[in-house]
Amino acid sequence: MQHILSARQFDQEAIADIFARTDLVREQLATRDGRRELAASHLGEVAATLFYEPSTRTRLSFESAAARLGMGIISTENAKEYSSSIKGESLEDSIRTVAAYAGVIIMRHGDDDSAERAAAVSPVPVINAGAGKGEHPTQSLLDLYTIRHEAGRTDDLKVVIGGDLAHGRTARSLAQLLSLYPNNHLTFVSTPELQIGQDILDHLDERGTTHEQTDDMFGALHEADVVYWTRLQKERHASVAAGRGLRKLLGKKLPAAPTLESAFSINQAALQVMKPATIIMHPLPRNHEIEASVDADPRAKYFDQVKNGLYVRTALLDMLSK
Ligand code: NCD
Repeated sequence: MQHILSARQFDQEAIADIFARTDLVREQLATRDGRRELAASHLGEVAATLFYEPSTRTRLSFESAAARLGMGIISTENAKEYSSSIKGESLEDSIRTVAAYAGVIIMRHGDDDSAERAAAVSPVPVINAGAGKGEHPTQSLLDLYTIRHEAGRTDDLKVVIGGDLAHGRTARSLAQLLSLYPNNHLTFVSTPELQIGQDILDHLDERGTTHEQTDDMFGALHEADVVYWTRLQKERHASVAAGRGLRKLLGKKLPAAPTLESAFSINQAALQVMKPATIIMHPLPRNHEIEASVDADPRAKYFDQVKNGLYVRTALLDMLSK
């Protein structure tokens, strides 16, 4: 494993290796001796986080993971404004520069092809921590790890994926990972304009994973083993519609959102149609598409995903830096 760019690069065997390492990290982090052992394992190494788009969980979990491995961390959040990007430096030149200072680069960027472009010039591993409306492979690994942990399997699952699937990168990466395992059936719930890209559907067809699309949330929920909900990607609608950058739009009132949030909200009524063993997931941040009252339901697993993110990312950094 040289870079982590796309969910498409993984096969079952690679994922089994990552999850075995993740299980070990989880155990190590639970004890003082384990934490000390981990913290001694990558002393003298440096990880760089280069984030051109906002993040809470992804950046901090990677930085926490690096810290737990004993790595030093250099970081630029809001790299769009606080790095030389604003002076006109190309992504490629920034990557060449950061690679001189760090042994691994964890990058989030607004362009779909940014991770591939970075990897093409980087002498050190690049981890795609979210690329435009394209992919977010490490999120999908922690999502799949959560599914394995909570549902006990990664195959033979009815997975209902809902929200803004046209602009959401987490749903796209997760769908691709789920297609590696037999007998998964994916139901995509959204409005027709915000449905998942044809490229993903084609990929599922190639892999023989059955799927359907619907705007009937309640109809989809009652059969689900996994419900994976996502937010409306307002900033991507606005920037696409207005042809302007994210920065200009922040703080301005964004164009009226489609009815997605209200029509597809997981609320008490939705909980009632789900099976007792269904697990409810969300990559976070959430807006109104999962009501806060759902958090107390034992089926809600989105804060478990957050914890698993640290374990999976620690395992990934460990494996990439070997
Ligand atoms: C997601 C992302 O950045 O794509 N967040 C995350 O990493 N957990 C989801 C989102 O922003 O909606």
